[in-house]
Amino acid sequence: TWESVPLAPPDAIYKLTGAYKEDAYPQKVNLGVGAYRDDNNKPWILPVVKKATDILLNDPALDHEYLPITGLPEFTSAAARLVLGADSPAIAEGRVASVQTISGTGANHLGALFLSRFYHWPEGTEKQAYLSDPTWINHFQIMRGVGITPITYPYYDPATIGLAFGAYLATIRAAPPGSVFVLHACAHNPTGVDPTRAQWTQICELVLERKHYVFFDSAYQGFASGDLDADAWAVREFVKRGVPLLICQSFAKNAGLYGERVGALHVVAPTQETAVRIKSQLSVLTRSEISSPPAHGARLMALIMNDAALFEEWKRDIKTMAQRIIAMRKELHRLLTEELKTPGNWDHIVNQIGMFSFTGISQEQSQALIEQAHVYLTTNGRISMAGLNSHNIRYFADCLDRVVRG
Ligand code: LMR
Repeated sequence: TWESVPLAPPDAIYKLTGAYKEDAYPQKVNLGVGAYRDDNNKPWILPVVKKATDILLNDPALDHEYLPITGLPEFTSAAARLVLGADSPAIAEGRVASVQTISGTGANHLGALFLSRFYHWPEGTEKQAYLSDPTWINHFQIMRGVGITPITYPYYDPATIGLAFGAYLATIRAAPPGSVFVLHACAHNPTGVDPTRAQWTQICELVLERKHYVFFDSAYQGFASGDLDADAWAVREFVKRGVPLLICQSFAKNAGLYGERVGALHVVAPTQETAVRIKSQLSVLTRSEISSPPAHGARLMALIMNDAALFEEWKRDIKTMAQRIIAMRKELHRLLTEELKTPGNWDHIVNQIGMFSFTGISQEQSQALIEQAHVYLTTNGRISMAGLNSHNIRYFADCLDRVVRG
């Protein structure tokens, strides 16, 4: 019966983690998946998460009952404040429909499914969403999975290793009014190239003029600058200016809760009454797919976000992670430009932000790093800066220098 099922290729990012684990080479380096590591290449349990876990596990009232379908209310309300701002008028006016999701991927899926069912697609077009070229590879299959055709808008310019701003704006202008644009809220994955605030403002004005819908993916709040509020600037600006939008939010990276799958979807509606109707439909969709979301990670984040002292401690932990990554950027840049004098311009290593750097090396050079140097990275030349540390950075710089020189 299953003869016609084709073999699917392995996931590009998870495949790298598997290959790295199997590799016995002592100097192997994993720059594949975007997951934070400390300077000893170990996963880092944030001290604030450890503290919240102790509080939670010592709570005699803790049980394993189902959460409500739309999630833990203390979590979803705090999550909305985190991204929209504690003083957000949209929250005060009751215009935000927030539901807990299976991390950022679940939020992307639920948001896309909701649009697929209920969005008024532009006259004469099929269901389609504009994704940045390039984008997180999973965006494509998430969209296709709910019957939305992904199309791309220019984003990255290989010539400058920066933003293809003119072509990006031209696509927003040319798209049929009411088109859906998926934007990375901060710390663009995979390029590490974000628009400046002035550029965001121009994007926002054009999106408003063309009446487009914005689908924000916010997986790295805190990771771009080390500051939660600064990293939410674009989202808040778009909300303030009245762009119709939703936000997919992940706590995998900024709280180091990768495997706990804690996230949220926030749909900002024009009125409170609309938000109530939207939330009722998100509830129906969630019930049919997962019944109700997992409790543990949401309980941890609710504790952390609703307690002033724990919240401050979390911010310090985020700074610790962001600063280590920034230090690695500076050191890699120094090694390439000053010590090794590697051909080419490497300023983008320090100019890019967030967890990733788009090195600008070719697919062949990336493949050579994997096969000859045991350095694992996606073949688009993206490296996860969090995989570098004071022990392996010199080895990596040497290997990169060698493949660049050919
Ligand atoms: C990545 O891009 O490496 C991360 O977002 C992890 C993932 O789920 O792909």
